[in-house]
Amino acid sequence: MEIDWEQLWIDARKDSVLTKYRKDVGVEIWDRGADYYIDAIKKNGYEYGQQRIEAIKGIIKPDFEVLDIGAGPGTLAIPLAKLVKKVTALDPSKGMIKVLEESAVAEGIGNIETVNETWQEVDDAEIGERFDLVITSDVLWQFEDVGKQLMRIHDASRKYCCVILHAGLTDDLVSELWSKIMDKEYDFGIDYIYIYNILYSKGIYANVGVTDSGYTFENSVNDAIGFYEYLFDLYTEITPRIKEIIRNYVLENAVNGVYRRDTKLKSAVMWWKKGI
Ligand SMILES: C[S@@+](CC[C@H](N)C(=O)[O-])C[C@H]1O[C@@H](n2cnc3c(N)ncnc32)[C@H](O)[C@@H]1O
Repeated sequence: MEIDWEQLWIDARKDSVLTKYRKDVGVEIWDRGADYYIDAIKKNGYEYGQQRIEAIKGIIKPDFEVLDIGAGPGTLAIPLAKLVKKVTALDPSKGMIKVLEESAVAEGIGNIETVNETWQEVDDAEIGERFDLVITSDVLWQFEDVGKQLMRIHDASRKYCCVILHAGLTDDLVSELWSKIMDKEYDFGIDYIYIYNILYSKGIYANVGVTDSGYTFENSVNDAIGFYEYLFDLYTEITPRIKEIIRNYVLENAVNGVYRRDTKLKSAVMWWKKGI
């Protein structure tokens, strides 16, 4: 019996904490979060993106033109730009594009072109098979019609594609606080295995490498409280009770005014070459 992985993905997304409780505030959430993201990435010396690039280093060539879909603050785009001819960084969030452009200048990088659009807005006929590598990291969970978008990614590349998504359970910045605030289990539900099987059902047999992608979040108590209030505001109203829970949690886990959390995450890096 053939399993309809695209339908399973649609069903599983309905129960995922990533989508089920999220207020529908569109791209604005990424604008508001951009400063937190770039701060965490810089403090980790771009290691989060580097670990992922390491998994595909063997296929990357200096003359490559790369499209990074949902590039965010430049997690991958910045380290990738140092290895290739050009990176086109696409993201619908103006806030993300702004911090990406500022970071590129700070790193002395001049070969990143930014495009402020959603992936869905991109005209397929216009890009054709322009890119040597099309990459997307931690973005696909946002797409209900992920099968269609995967094939558009495939079509936009003339050589390689690489899609990255978390693998298995996540112990991230939110997981401990989630049950205290939301009174519900923290369950991503969806992960890379759906994507791998959707690709398989379309005749694409991806290579898969699972990498550790945990990172350290370290901030002053006040900044950490601000970050958690921003994050939970995506899901629920920040009442005085919730403010108190966040504040107590951060204070309980802070040492000398500094809050630190080591996340434990795994990501699957799936890549394939066209025509094989
Ligand atoms: C979790 S961040 C990932 C950023 C970066 N790729 C990384 O790995 O750190 C998700 C990104 O997807 C972007 N995004 C949201 N909707 C999108 C869409 N329809 N097309 C492309 N990117 C989108 C957001 O603006 C945000 O920057």
